[in-house]
Amino acid sequence: MASNRDLEATWVYHNGTKHSFQSIHSSRHFLDRQNQPLPFKVYPALEPIPLPRLEPSGAPALAASDSEPLGECVPGLELLGRVLYYSAGITKRIRYPQGEMSFRAASCTGALYHIDLYLVCGDLPDLEAGVYHFGVHDFALRRLRSGDFREELVKATAAEPAVAQAPVILACSSTFWRNAWKYQARTYRHCFWDSGTILANLLAVAAGHGLPARVVCGFVDAQVNRLLGLDPQREVALALVPLGRFPDHIGQAPVVEPLELETMPLSRSEVDYPAIRAMHEASSLTAGAEAAAWRGPAPPPSLPLPSGRLVALQPASAEDAPQDFIEAVILRRGSSRRFAREPLTLAQLSTILNQAVRGIPVDFLEPEGTSLNDLYLIVNAVEGLPNGAYVFHRHRQALELLREEEFRNEAGNLGLEQALPADASVDVFLLAELRPILERFGNRGYRLAQLEAGIIGGRLYLAAYSLGLGATGLTFYDDDVTDFFSPHASDKSVMFLVALGHPSKRRIA
Ligand SMILES: Cc1cc2nc3c(=O)[nH]c(=O)nc-3n(C[C@H](O)[C@H](O)[C@H](O)COP(=O)(O)O)c2cc1C
Repeated sequence: MASNRDLEATWVYHNGTKHSFQSIHSSRHFLDRQNQPLPFKVYPALEPIPLPRLEPSGAPALAASDSEPLGECVPGLELLGRVLYYSAGITKRIRYPQGEMSFRAASCTGALYHIDLYLVCGDLPDLEAGVYHFGVHDFALRRLRSGDFREELVKATAAEPAVAQAPVILACSSTFWRNAWKYQARTYRHCFWDSGTILANLLAVAAGHGLPARVVCGFVDAQVNRLLGLDPQREVALALVPLGRFPDHIGQAPVVEPLELETMPLSRSEVDYPAIRAMHEASSLTAGAEAAAWRGPAPPPSLPLPSGRLVALQPASAEDAPQDFIEAVILRRGSSRRFAREPLTLAQLSTILNQAVRGIPVDFLEPEGTSLNDLYLIVNAVEGLPNGAYVFHRHRQALELLREEEFRNEAGNLGLEQALPADASVDVFLLAELRPILERFGNRGYRLAQLEAGIIGGRLYLAAYSLGLGATGLTFYDDDVTDFFSPHASDKSVMFLVALGHPSKRRIA
């Protein structure tokens, strides 16, 4: 088994799953609709514990801050239900001639919904201590284990401080096949993109209700998978999120017996993608001591000092910001399927960028304000901003113009020759310099760069929708994007792409 320090594993995976014009146009992969996997994990033999569904509330979306609330906080079932629903619940059902399709709170590649959420809690006011699975299909919890198993996660994270004080710890997992059916080995990237958009919602909803939440990626993988009863050849834990705070000693956990619970088959047969398993194994931590040593400061920022023309951001004042609740914004979110070629204002773009890069409460971005990804933009239509290619200097609150030109055609080509990035007002590319990130965090740094990009991508969606605009995640031709933004970005790899603009119902001629 490759170790987390054997960095070649990341390059093999990353280079082997790049999209290029050649790889897309020569692919023989086809979608076997008869074998399409179920987008839910269902435990047919377990009793559902229904969750209460409530009207949207929380704080205004554009005011929701991720700063840590102070004091004790123990969520009940009502707040947990909110957090789960607005992160990963079904928010929309659309009827088609072939049947009904349900869409969820967060965007997801191909609407294939391969991410599941679990809860590990002590006794809560209205929920017994246990390990639970969140059933999206019927909005209910199911108990997989009875008893307080939090100590297992305290050990798996080498007593990460937020985990050690959390009344509830949420875990995200991916069942690879549910996404690999369409995306094959590239699915390992999607694990982090699609859990990232869920976590963007989760952090915003938790902050809106004053519920402490922090994403923890330093944990012993096998210990978490065993607790959740996952078969790591098919489904793996990706991130933990301690929720709430109660500084009481967490008692000894019961023995973790193997779980042999029946789950509904996903499809007639499943295809294994060894590249996914290899990358996951090579980025796994194997002992508590490794998890403890792994934590600490992120590599210093890699963005060079600006040398081109700088345009200062002009975010709207707090009084001018829309007052919609974060949960109402999540209900109306949906990826734009078409954009009108209309401009954003510089104030709108400024607000969106600022919201997206606010400090993310995670265990791999210390000191606060550190980031693994840089934002590069193609501006097609923003009032007061020349069209062209830009890089965002977050600490200077400014965009640096790299090249002034009309790039709609190039944007379309970089986004897999789709109309959406060409018609968008702005395309935001998240690029990471992987080499120092891998040096610092080992192969697990690859997970982190992808996850941070997914969270920022999810926030770009939320900020756009809170301003009444549209957004969509997009996939891309990897090396062409790096080339486009080079020499500035020549050492960087693309992690994520979001197009922003005015949604349009009509096809553009
Ligand atoms: C990382 C990411 C990449 C995506 N790539 C594309 C894409 O290339 N083309 C596209 O039309 N939609 C793309 N989407 C949008 C998804 O298809 C969409 O999120 C999914 O169908 C669910 O619909 P909803 O976002 O409206 O809820 C992407 C979404 C994400 C999160």
